[in-house]
Amino acid sequence: MELVFATNNANKIKEVQALIPQHIKLLSLKDIGCYEELPETQNSIEGNARQKADYVTSRYNYDCFADDTGLEVDALKGAPGVYSARYAGAHCSPNDNMEKLLHKLKDIPLRKARFKTVIALNINQGTHMFTGICNGIITRTKKGTNGFGYDPIFRPDGINETFAEMDINLKNKISHRAKAINQLIAFLNTV
Ligand code: IMP
Repeated sequence: MELVFATNNANKIKEVQALIPQHIKLLSLKDIGCYEELPETQNSIEGNARQKADYVTSRYNYDCFADDTGLEVDALKGAPGVYSARYAGAHCSPNDNMEKLLHKLKDIPLRKARFKTVIALNINQGTHMFTGICNGIITRTKKGTNGFGYDPIFRPDGINETFAEMDINLKNKISHRAKAINQLIAFLNTV
């Protein structure tokens, strides 16, 4: 059985392929001839994950899963959330996004936040949603050089270092994405 992972990141595909039953063959967007950018115009993380999976299933007629991630900060009522990638503007860098967030939280002691990954899976005519959450706080300064995005300013609960200071293997065990992917894999093992 073929299943599209709505990404062109070969590493992501390899990683997940190794963890799912052998009778499921993962395909990338390129593998199915999808070269256009997938639409992400919804106002929630769930909505965007579902929109991407539905786009592939309806236009290309494949079972498919897609993921979407955002950083939700309590003191900012859940912002940047679905706008995490372009918080500081359409063509901004990850550093611009972090600087904007640190500035907004400059005088705010309550720094609770969470990363949320949602995976939408279309399979056998049904849709299934999986959510992975990693709770933590936004630090006052950037620390560490590993990872990407907001990693230098996010410290997960129970650990004394930011995602960017942490060994990548540890991040991959406790992250929002890992939690969502583990749920997806558990489900695919029952299909
Ligand atoms: P995407 O949906 O995976 O593209 O994630 C949207 C945005 O959230 C990215 O552009 C990053 O800014 C941020 N993001 C997602 N996952 C992580 C993470 O694990 N660490 C830090 N930032 C992340």
